[in-house]
Order: sequence, then structure tokens, then C-alpha cells
Amino acid sequence: MCGIVGYIGHEDAKEILLKGLEKLEYRGYDSAGIAVNNGNGVHYFKEKGRIADLREAIDNEVEATAGIGHTRWATHGVPNRINAHPHQSASCRFTLVHNGVIENYEMLKRSFLETVELKSETDTEVIVQMVEYFVNNGDTVEDSFRKTLKELKGSYALALLDNEDKDRIYVAKNKSPLLVGVGDNFNVVASDAMAMLQVTDQYIELMDKEMVIVTRDSVIIKNLDGAEIIRNSFTCELDASEIEKGTYPHFMLKEIDEQPFVIRKIIQRYQDEQGALKLDEDIRGAMQDPDRIYIVACGTSYHAGLVGKQFIETLAKIPVEVHVASEFSYNMPLLTGKPLFIFISQSGETADSRAVLVKIKALGHPAITITNVPGSTLSREADYTLHLHAGPEIAVASTKAYTAQMAVLAILAVDTARTKGIELDFDPIRELSIVANAMEVLCDQKEEMNQIAREYLATTRNCFFIGRGIDFYVGLEGALKLKEISYIQAEGFAGGELKHGTIALIEEGTPVIAIATQEQVNLGIRGNVKEVDARGANSCIISMKGLESAGDRFVIPAVHELMTPLVSVIPLQLIAYYAALHRDCDVDKPRNLAKSVTVE
Ligand code: G6P
Repeated sequence: MCGIVGYIGHEDAKEILLKGLEKLEYRGYDSAGIAVNNGNGVHYFKEKGRIADLREAIDNEVEATAGIGHTRWATHGVPNRINAHPHQSASCRFTLVHNGVIENYEMLKRSFLETVELKSETDTEVIVQMVEYFVNNGDTVEDSFRKTLKELKGSYALALLDNEDKDRIYVAKNKSPLLVGVGDNFNVVASDAMAMLQVTDQYIELMDKEMVIVTRDSVIIKNLDGAEIIRNSFTCELDASEIEKGTYPHFMLKEIDEQPFVIRKIIQRYQDEQGALKLDEDIRGAMQDPDRIYIVACGTSYHAGLVGKQFIETLAKIPVEVHVASEFSYNMPLLTGKPLFIFISQSGETADSRAVLVKIKALGHPAITITNVPGSTLSREADYTLHLHAGPEIAVASTKAYTAQMAVLAILAVDTARTKGIELDFDPIRELSIVANAMEVLCDQKEEMNQIAREYLATTRNCFFIGRGIDFYVGLEGALKLKEISYIQAEGFAGGELKHGTIALIEEGTPVIAIATQEQVNLGIRGNVKEVDARGANSCIISMKGLESAGDRFVIPAVHELMTPLVSVIPLQLIAYYAALHRDCDVDKPRNLAKSVTVE
């Protein structure tokens, strides 16, 4: 979703800002812009479309050593040049970029800006006009910025330029992510560290409702009452090469291939030298207490949560409910007496999940966040964090984070069971090692997946995924992957449920991908395949070694029956990838989607 960068130093700002924006492209956007300040005023350039289009629009004659940049994922107003950021105040003195949603912008317009003619349809423009409004009423820029922030309701990460002062960038945040990066004779601003890793690995975390004045050699953080806050920087551990595609054509393919490595890294990180599971004692304690666990997540992470429920209930014998965050936040179920919340989020920034976290913290309930980004908002605000160790995931369609989430949930379930004294005939380290090997075998069979995609999905309008039990959850994820990147209408169904309505959609040639990795329901799912075949479906059974039958299209290596989702999803990820290629889709940056969804 929207991304922000800023630079103030001694180099030409344009290229640094553009490179930063390119690193934020993965978050999803539909327009982009930069503004630079060189003492002769602020010059801005913005375009609908890609950063490459913005590059074309920039006047290279303009040189400046300070500036801000933005990628926009439209919320208020269509994606066009006018609504793209930066936005300027009426006199053009102030220029602003914003990530987030201002909920009370209509009211602010009526209260402060009756006489101002707004140029765009955005909520953002109200912010920059308000700063000017307060300045026109005699306040200093800093006070005007602070007064404006105090009026805003909603989420924001902001960077503001003043064309009468080329030596400062004003910055603030509430709910939306923002960091200040520290360099030698320069400082930067970024929605995430990846954007500015090209120039620094030193960052300062900002808290909600703080404002910052960034100059070439200082970073002054204040609260909204004007009191200064001292905070040290931290070193960002990311390796710049981790966020490059290398020889891969797409990040998604690279990230699919990284899965065996990620599983092995998780084994390493969650095991001590004696081979025992290694988990924070506080998390261990928290897991012993609840009478029910509530897993809250969105998208792919929600699908990992469904599998996690299976792990925790089967192994640790604690009842689990899994909820979509956007529903939970206004339709909270009746909670038990001792609930424990587990938030699953690759990015750790998803606004829907965060809204639930804020609510349940206010009720005093404990929360664990399972995330790929330990310093993220959900990680900071929960009581405990479990790290996925998957490395940066850049492709919008999540792959390695999904399998990492399930691996960490399996470890958590077993550790909880052992701490409770439950005897298990299940060694997660051994089973995950088998999973990693099986993943490797599958990643080597790309041509076969490409063939399946070509055969079943190159021209189809729709596709169904069916499975029973844990295979059903994988079907949901397979369908999500396919629709996200190939735009084929795809749905996952419980095998037995299809005949209660959806089977009406089966026509001659409709692809139905069935997952059959569970002994208990093997006959059942094969019966469902016969039902759709009888109505003309083009079925494709993906089964597991030991349960296969003649005619199965693809057989995955055998793994423990609880671990099958980590393996059976690999062919589905690859099939979705190749289907998207056959249909000429932008695999890493699918239309309308954002990687990090920071609005509710
Ligand atoms: C977005 C992404 C999905 C992702 C979901 C949850 O919608 O496009 O791929 O699964 O957010 O993201 P999270 O970072 O919370 O796991």
C-alpha cells in the first residue's frame, strides 16, 4: 500500500527518492510522485502508473538536496495524476505526502477550509491546506503542523516540505508505519527500512502521535505537546541482496524456491544445542494459561491460521477459533474467560489485524504476534512475538511466509503440548526436515507445473479447488494464489459442500483441482471428483505418495499427515505462477492489490 520516502543531505535527492520508491513498489500502488526543495521553491512531479512513468516525467534540470516521494494506492479518489501525491497548499508553500486514511477530513474541510478550493478528491489535501491555514493565522510552521496533527482522526504517515525552508522535512505518524534513517551528513524517511537500505542501515523507530523535524544533521522527535523525546537508532539487519531478484524473472518464483531454506532456518532458530525446542519462556507461560485461543489474521495469513488451529487442537488440546480480522473488529464473538490471541501477519502492519489488537489489548487480553517483521506495529504492540525468519517477502502473493507461518505454528503447538506434559508421537524437527526435502523435490518439478497450468488454466474463466479436512484449507490458499495473480475466478470448497450449490457452476471443461493427502478422507474426496467429472469438469487430482490412484495428475512426496499443507501448497503456488505467465499478468505486482494493507 502507499509508501513514503524522504531525503535531506548533500546529494541530488531525485535519484535517491526514485530508487527508494522502486524498493517500495512491492507494496502495491497505482500512481507515484516526488517533490524536491532547492531554495528556489518546491518542484513536484507525479504520474499515474509505474515509477518508470514518473521517471519519464521528471525534469532532470531541477537539482535539489532535499525531497519527499510517494507511491499511492487509491482510497479516496480514483488513481489519476491529480489525486497522486505530493499535494500542495493553496499558495504552493507547503507540499505533503501521506500514507493512511483521515476519517474526519470532511468535517475538517467544513471547519477550517470553507474558503479554500481543493484541487483533488483526496483526504490528504486537507492536511496540507490546514498547515497553511494555521500559518496564515500567525502560527510558526512547527506549531501549525502540530495543531493540524491534533485535529486529525485516522491513520497517517506524513512528510511535509516548506518552500521557504529547504533545510527541514517535517514528519509525523499515527498507526501507519514510518521510520527515520540516520546517515553521515544526511537523513532519510521511509515507510520501511528496505526503501533506504541503499543509503543507510541505521533507523529510528517512531511511535504514534509523534512528530519529527529532520534536517541534514539532526533528527528531533517531539510529542504533540512539544516535549522532546530522545531515542537511539537501531541497525537494520536486512541484507540488501535479500531484496534483489538476482537471476530470477520474478520475486514470487524466487520466494517459492526459498521455502526449503526457510523451513531449515526455522528449525535452526527454534532448536537449542541439545535438539530441544527453544521458545521464549514468557510465550511458553502464556500458552499454558488460556481456555481458548483466538487466531486473527487476513488473506493468506488467515489460511495459515486455519491450519494452525488443526495443529494446536490436535497436539496441544486447546480449543481454537480462527477469525478474519476485518469481521472480528466490529463483530466480536463472545470471548471465554481466559482467552489468548494469536495474530498472524507477514508484514506485521495490516490495519484490520491491528484494529483487533488495539481492541483486545484495551480489554486486557494477552496477545502473541507471529510475523516476518519483528519491529513491525503488530509485533511491538502485542505482548510477545514469534519471528518467521522467512527473509523479506517482496511478491504481493505470499508464498514463503505462508509455509513459515505454518511451520512456526507447528512448533508452538508441540512445545505447548510438551510443556503441558502431553505425550506426543510427533517430532516437529524431524517432520519439518522431511517437509524441507519434499519442498525441494517439488521446486525441481517446475516444468510439470507449467504443463498443468497450460493445460487447465491458460484460457479458462474459472477454477475450483476442493479438498476435505486440512486439504480444504490448502484449497482455499490455492484459489487465493490463482485469483490474486492470474485474475481467474477461483474458489476453494470443502469437497462435500460442492454439491450443495456450487456444483451448478460446473460446465464442460471447468477445471477442478482436488487435493488428496489425507487417508481418512481419501475415498470421500475421490467421490467428489467423480461427481464433478460426471458433469463435464476437467479434474486434476494432486495426491500424496502412498494414497495415489491411477489417473492422478501429480503426486507429492509423502510427509506426516499434519504437515501436508506445507508441501501440497507448493504445486498450487507454482501452478498459479505459471497460469499468470500464460495470461501475461504482472506476477509480482497484481492489479488492485497491495502487499502491506495499512488501511482498514
Ligand atoms: C494483503 C496481501 C495478502 C496478505 C494479506 C495479509 O491483502 O495482498 O497477500 O495475505 O494482506 O497480510 P499480512 O501482512 O497481515 O500477512
